[in-house]
Amino acid sequence: MKSTGGSEEAKRRAGRAAADRVADGMVVGLGTGSTAAHAIRALGERVDAGLDIEGIPTSFQSRQLAREAGIPLTTLEDAFPDVAIDGADQVANGDLVKGGGAAHAREKVVDAAATAFLVVADETKLADTLDHAVPVEVLPDARPLVESRVRDMDGEPTLRAAERKDGPVVTDNGNLVLDCEFGEIGDPAKLAWGLAEVPGVVAHGLFVGLADAVFVGSEEGVRTLSLEE
Ligand code: 5RP
Repeated sequence: MKSTGGSEEAKRRAGRAAADRVADGMVVGLGTGSTAAHAIRALGERVDAGLDIEGIPTSFQSRQLAREAGIPLTTLEDAFPDVAIDGADQVANGDLVKGGGAAHAREKVVDAAATAFLVVADETKLADTLDHAVPVEVLPDARPLVESRVRDMDGEPTLRAAERKDGPVVTDNGNLVLDCEFGEIGDPAKLAWGLAEVPGVVAHGLFVGLADAVFVGSEEGVRTLSLEE
């Protein structure tokens, strides 16, 4: 698993607090990353204690974790999630940058399909304005076109390199990831639409207006930011 900022204790508190919101009979979207992993483990403990749920994983990683934790799995073909629990790389004004684990394409599908989308994050992820590089998953053949269009939007794309393999990260879907620096993102919705329109973009990591609540973990406890209108 990649490592990101924030203490493990803060992530654990956030993940477990969101997992506590899950009730008997629910279908649960299972996010990706170190914070969502705490929620998956907590759900596994509750399944051991008799909780009756089914999970829909968002990545190879979350599927493996869910299997290890003993959570029965299903797919979107059979049910949409009642709730999805997922991490974020940055949170500002309820909007998110995701994709640090290159899983944002499937995460966006599962999180958007859920009746309630709960974000789990430690305090280091909170910002006043989004300025994190935006991960953009692209079809391999489309990389030069997408790079050119991102530069037209005043962004600077960098092909994400693998850490223990020569060459690029290849996503669970067989695609590449461009980490695109835009500086401060004053209008996330506009940038989201612009990126989505570029041919060859499979999914970008801007999650605008999707989250219903953010569970923010710290060394001291957890606070919940409700985003429902
Ligand atoms: C994966 C993601 C993760 O949810 C995001 O990178 C946060 O990860 P972590 O909880 O390990 O900081 O979007 O694609």
